[in-house]
Amino acid sequence: MTKFVDLHCHILPYVDDGAFRTKESERLLDMLYFQGARSICVTPHLRHRMFETPDEEILVQFDELQAYAAQRSYPVHLFLSREYHCDTRLQACLESGTVRPLGEGNSILIEFSQLHDFATILEWVARVRTNGYQPLIAHVERYPGLDGSLDRASELIQNGALLQMNASSVLGREGLRQARWSKKLLKESLIHVIASDAHDSMERPPLLDACHRYLRKKVGDAYADALMRDNPMQIISTTEKENNSHADN
Ligand SMILES: [Fe+2]
Repeated sequence: MTKFVDLHCHILPYVDDGAFRTKESERLLDMLYFQGARSICVTPHLRHRMFETPDEEILVQFDELQAYAAQRSYPVHLFLSREYHCDTRLQACLESGTVRPLGEGNSILIEFSQLHDFATILEWVARVRTNGYQPLIAHVERYPGLDGSLDRASELIQNGALLQMNASSVLGREGLRQARWSKKLLKESLIHVIASDAHDSMERPPLLDACHRYLRKKVGDAYADALMRDNPMQIISTTEKENNSHADN
């Protein structure tokens, strides 16, 4: 079985719109583990006026989930990061040097709203890089700012961004339009990472194994493994990254 690396999920309880209680959090970790995840970055939202749980409270939940993993003897690496909405909170974290990169690398998971236009997305990519971090753009398939343009996706990569797509989008769970756009991006090898973005066990569950099976058929074993194992492993393992090497795998 391919051992997956999941760089984006909301499985900590009581910290954002993800797991709503401890049992659900443990259930989500069980699901990820039995689907084959062996390294997992938990990424609670940080967003101005919406999700503002401080790191200290998140650390308490993270330690409890670590203890649960140990109690179950899961050979799984858990890392604590955040999903940073591009707003004043991220700006403050960049200025104070308190961002939490993914794993041991220097990439940070950033997200945009439906209202961010393309120029603003590019500005944030540059700002994150200027501060010494590599931006991994969360669920890039969602943003109207890209306007369904492969050229715009390429431009983001040329400007130093890595692009993440959700497993649910690949599998068509987010609607036909998003599924079509996701396929186009994958066909052109413009995606670097596929992650679960799991929030709960029913409505937004982890779908790693189903997604990997689908990808193997559609894009081949090598790119499927790169998207769900090799590229994310490289992101959490090292501070030196070259964008193109991810996409070319
Ligand atoms: Fe997310």
